Amino acid sequence: MSDAAKLVSSVYDGIDEGPSDDSISPRNDDYMIRCENLVKIYKTDEVEVVALQGLDLDVKRGELMAIVGNSGSGKSTLLNMLGGLDKPSAGSLFVDGKNLLKFSDKDYMEYKRNTVGFVWQNNARNLIPYLTAVQNVELPMLLKGSKQRRKRALELLEKVGLSHRKNSRLDQMSGGEQQRVAIAIALANNPRLLLADEPTGSVDTKTSNIILDIFKKLNETEGLTVVIVTHDVKLSKRIDRVVAIRDGRTSSEIVRKKSYAQELDEMGNIVNAAEGEEEETHEELVVLDRSGRLQLPKDHMEKLGIKGGDKVKVEFDEDSRRVVVFKSGE
Ligand SMILES: Nc1ncnc2c1ncn2[C@@H]1O[C@H](COP(=O)(O)OP(=O)(O)OP(=O)(O)O)[C@@H](O)[C@H]1O
Ligand SMILES: [Mg+2]
Repeated sequence: MSDAAKLVSSVYDGIDEGPSDDSISPRNDDYMIRCENLVKIYKTDEVEVVALQGLDLDVKRGELMAIVGNSGSGKSTLLNMLGGLDKPSAGSLFVDGKNLLKFSDKDYMEYKRNTVGFVWQNNARNLIPYLTAVQNVELPMLLKGSKQRRKRALELLEKVGLSHRKNSRLDQMSGGEQQRVAIAIALANNPRLLLADEPTGSVDTKTSNIILDIFKKLNETEGLTVVIVTHDVKLSKRIDRVVAIRDGRTSSEIVRKKSYAQELDEMGNIVNAAEGEEEETHEELVVLDRSGRLQLPKDHMEKLGIKGGDKVKVEFDEDSRRVVVFKSGE
């Protein structure tokens, strides 16, 4: 066991027994991602940063969902684990039925080549400015020696709505268009899972809607599972399931009562929802981890005048069938 894993087990020993290895069923075909009690510790010379501290997350096949959270909460760390760019320190992580904690370097390479596609906020760094859009999409296929590169590259550009710009040089395209070229590249290996870290971080609202529409279309027409990390509140409102991460754990989940598509339908495509009305369509849920622990929302704690480490009373109210949390003596 590595030092990091030992540290983790010593942290968790005595708190609870933790899930056993077989408490999740990776072979359950409904799930693309099953992640339980995931821990990632970064070690630098002097300090150890616990970036993920027992995170649980399940994502069904064919789902499109978003992850939100403050800066430093562990979103990119999680995405890097899911994308096989870095190894978890402890916990379980199954993607597409594969146990990533048991992966060899070769398994990781194959996984990155065949299972996942990755889109970053600032993709320009991975693109070649003096090549055209289609040449940029062809390039990774050239390295892999794929046949029929040109045909495939043109198909991919069509998927992201850029056929008309195929012969434009990258440096003559807008940031949003460059981002769409990057999405085409991420799709080149026919991934089953698409991971996007702040894909709309450096574009305006209109472009960010276009990018989300591309993800939605890929999700609906090709059954691609899509996980998007975003700070963009407007964008997350257009996504049916949004999971919030706090301090390296999933803390709450917002589920739309109606799907966005259904909502637009009912409004006859007239987008007139006032702020207040819009909120009605979301329900914010706190996520219990598999041992039944929950993170109280920060604002509730502030209103109660309690902080982490305090002791509180928890009672069950028979009439309302609610669990009530309150300060003792009140
Ligand atoms: N390679 C690394 N080495 C050491 N610490 C790291 C490393 N990568 C991330 N961290 C730390 O892990 C924690 C989580 O970082 P992470 O990048 O996952 O946050 P994030 O939620 O993506 O934030 P942001 O919204 O700013 O992108 C932070 O405290 C960060 O400093
Ligand atoms: Mg990040």
